[in-house]
Amino acid sequence: MSVAITLVACAKTFADGTQAMGPLDLEIRPGETIVFLGPSGCGKTTTLRLIAGLESPNSGGRVLFDDADVTAVPIERRNVGMVFQSYALFPNMTVAGNIDYGLRVRRLSSAARAARVDEMLAMMKIGELRHRRVDQLSGGQKQRVALARALAPQPRVLLLDEPLTALDAKLRDVLRIEIDALLRRLRMTAVYVTHDQAEAMALGDRIVVMSQGKVAQVGRPRDVYFTPQSRFVAEFVGTMNRLRGVARDGHLEVMGGRIPWRGREAGEVEALFRPERATIVEPGAGQVKGRVATSFFLGDRTRLVVDGVSDGSLIVETTDRRDFQPGQDVHLVIDADALLTLDR
Ligand SMILES: Nc1ncnc2c1ncn2[C@@H]1O[C@H](COP(=O)(O)OP(=O)(O)O)[C@@H](O)[C@H]1O
Ligand SMILES: [Mg+2]
Repeated sequence: MSVAITLVACAKTFADGTQAMGPLDLEIRPGETIVFLGPSGCGKTTTLRLIAGLESPNSGGRVLFDDADVTAVPIERRNVGMVFQSYALFPNMTVAGNIDYGLRVRRLSSAARAARVDEMLAMMKIGELRHRRVDQLSGGQKQRVALARALAPQPRVLLLDEPLTALDAKLRDVLRIEIDALLRRLRMTAVYVTHDQAEAMALGDRIVVMSQGKVAQVGRPRDVYFTPQSRFVAEFVGTMNRLRGVARDGHLEVMGGRIPWRGREAGEVEALFRPERATIVEPGAGQVKGRVATSFFLGDRTRLVVDGVSDGSLIVETTDRRDFQPGQDVHLVIDADALLTLDR
């Protein structure tokens, strides 16, 4: 049932000359959830629309579903389900009417359609909303209806374009967990577009990080997070600290002290590390010393902005329950294995 999707040399130049993306080559595996992640305007939606059949690639580009070339196949014959940030539901129709809409164009008996609507209402836990008009629903409820509508005709692939972006933070978390469980249960090929790196990490079997119409890196969330291949990926996915200093005699010397250095580079270097790779220690046990500029109590941990270690501020996170005050000195140990050097 689930389909592999292959993009071959897919580029898109719009009529006004905007080069939105590509050329891009990508293989999406059957049943996987692949997330396109990147800043606004990098070409995520355009890529999704190419897969859907809402746009066609520049000549030479091809889209395959399994072995079939669907480049010239219009959306209504690609059998894809779509969910948008803006819901795109029929506001004056009922919830059940919206879900049924996609089934009406198929040759199904009305009994089969009704059964399928019931099944979708139950799956999305919105049975009690069945007779409500869509314009009377909350954002989270609308997105549940949109998912039910997209899935009702049993599409071969589910395409989601920033489906949670319009929702508030708490609801976003709840729905993200539900969508994740749903995709795993259905084992359906899914392409999910977001600019939110936490969402991408949580949902993706693989993440395609995009920048300015190009693929910056493709990999499992942990690969992208731990071994970014470029500075762009390192800094876009998660938080990254920069240390500027001089590498010599097995140490990286920075403004606030020195850290063991295992890199091959010598002389002036810029090293990157993740906030969780620094530990706050007692004075005397630290490699570097800095000063708390701001602290944010997050409940389970505290996020500190630390100045004076390098020329820019560092972000450090700690589960230490102390109340850190601005101006206070902090002593840090930074894991030598955590230091990355990326020259582009
Ligand atoms: N129909 C269009 N005509 C002209 N330019 C477009 C059109 N759609 C998108 N673009 C441009 O293509 C680029 C990529 O857009 P898009 O794929 O929507 O990015 P994203 O979804 O990552 O924010 C942007 O510069 C955008 O302005
Ligand atoms: Mg978009």
